[in-house]
Amino acid sequence: MCPILSRMSKPVVILAIESSCDDTSSAVIVDGILRSNVIASQKVHEEYGGVVPELASRAHQQNILPVVDTALKRAGVTKEDLSAIAFTRGPGLLGSLLVGTSFAKGLALALDIPLIDVNHLQGHVLAHFVEDGTGLPHPSFPFLCLLVSGGNSQIVLVKAYNNMEIIGQTIDDAAGEAFDKCAKVLGLPYPGGPWIDKLAKLGDPTQYPFAKPNIPNYDYSFSGLKTSFLYTLRDLLKEHRVESVDELAQQIPNLRENFCASLQATVVDILMRKLKKAAKDLGVTQVAVAGGVSANSALREAFVDYGKRYHWTVFIPPFSFTTDNAAMVCQAGYFKYLDNDFCAIDEVPFAKTQI
Ligand code: KG4
Repeated sequence: MCPILSRMSKPVVILAIESSCDDTSSAVIVDGILRSNVIASQKVHEEYGGVVPELASRAHQQNILPVVDTALKRAGVTKEDLSAIAFTRGPGLLGSLLVGTSFAKGLALALDIPLIDVNHLQGHVLAHFVEDGTGLPHPSFPFLCLLVSGGNSQIVLVKAYNNMEIIGQTIDDAAGEAFDKCAKVLGLPYPGGPWIDKLAKLGDPTQYPFAKPNIPNYDYSFSGLKTSFLYTLRDLLKEHRVESVDELAQQIPNLRENFCASLQATVVDILMRKLKKAAKDLGVTQVAVAGGVSANSALREAFVDYGKRYHWTVFIPPFSFTTDNAAMVCQAGYFKYLDNDFCAIDEVPFAKTQI
């Protein structure tokens, strides 16, 4: 049979590998339907209050084989069924990316099948197109995507699967980074975002009016807010003549809860205001959110609220697709496969943000 006909008659089976930070993940899509999405999270970083790159690389090396194996088994396919292998090329931690990239290259070479490089950030955006059987509606083009994670805060104008423009981004810290750093100051475990979310539910969001940035265009800044948070806490410690947050919490009821609620409300307000401006200026009414911080309950509520107020159709991902996962990488890989968009075997990972 001619190679094109044989390729057309066989199902398209894409295996994806995600290893950009501290989650080792692998997923399989068969003819556009997600069949498996396996994630091994790394607990080793918890005691350090942040991701330790070298430990992350080592954990990826330990996890990658069982994770890929499980993804194939759960999908009910073997490696011989694979049409191509997609992998996260960047941005992320270089050592972590190298593990996934090298594994994907080795497997593609051994099986003599194409290799597809995926931009992690595009993957987050394309998570909105994963067909996972729940029947979630997909955005139509063009749409705006607020991409908020531990390393990025961007507003992306998505014109097509393979045509995205970052129209605004943070000039310093990312929203997730601000959550994590402020949580650390309060003595909360890493990653701090989910803890802030949890405690914020018990606090007063108007208790501490933290500074908001005033920068042009659609860009963000969170370093001023972080400093304002730190100084407010420092002043209270001084005023109450105590040295630790624990001691202060004994004197001020709901201290941590109120700090969390006020921080969260400020972050959400900063994110949504710029997004609203972008949607209005560009006349776009399809608005999505993606990335780890999109798990935040107040941000999800704000999306629903803005949707009602400004007649947006909003797209909020299921929790399983908010943090790093290979399903989104697999979806991006599937689109690229259909476009015959493959990469060379000598492609190298990249650490810095690009789309
Ligand atoms: O996209 P992601 O999984 O990974 C990278 O950035 O690599 O995002 C992780 C970020 C962390 O900063 C974490 O604290 C934040 O997402 N995060 C949250 C919540 N869940 C995760 N931030 C606020 N509220 C949450 N519920």
